[in-house]
Amino acid sequence: MAFKGLLSYELSNKQTQTKMLNKRLEGELNAQLNAELYSAYLYLSMSGYLATKNLSGFSNWMKVQFEEEQFHAMKLFQYIIDRGGRVELAIIDKPQSEWKGILDIFEDVQAHEEKVSSMINNLVDVAMQEKDHATVNMLQWFVAEQVEEEASVSDLLDQLRLLGGQGSGLFLLDREAKQRVFTPPAGA
Ligand SMILES: [Fe+2]
Ligand SMILES: [Fe+2]
Repeated sequence: MAFKGLLSYELSNKQTQTKMLNKRLEGELNAQLNAELYSAYLYLSMSGYLATKNLSGFSNWMKVQFEEEQFHAMKLFQYIIDRGGRVELAIIDKPQSEWKGILDIFEDVQAHEEKVSSMINNLVDVAMQEKDHATVNMLQWFVAEQVEEEASVSDLLDQLRLLGGQGSGLFLLDREAKQRVFTPPAGA
């Protein structure tokens, strides 16, 4: 009797389980996983460039970006697995390694984050089309994260533009950027 009870519990539990990721979404989430790893790679490249320009604070700031992007990638990695999907890693594109200076680099960061935001929005559209509410819900974290990322970059860019990207103000901003540390986001 107890055995029968357990079996029917298992059956009903299965029926209420979130269904597996469909192939289209699995592909799109894997593509976003690759995009997050590319973001990590791009910021690491920027970090290296800034180190050679004696901007060790901004180099640190980019290293923190590198860590954040890896966190984003791992969040998608785990989600694909949790939903019974298959992780399929692809080649990560070679990032740019030369810039004209600090302003040029942060303009690229802004453009890049705007591009990522639109990728996330498209991904939400696909999840909605596929009526996959769990994925829509998971992606809301990324939607909010992109708002934060774009805001912090545009703040920094405003300050850099005010300084014209040079002088003692730049030295102070660099020193401030050195304080940045990676803390895994709460509730993620
Ligand atoms: Fe990201
Ligand atoms: Fe980002």
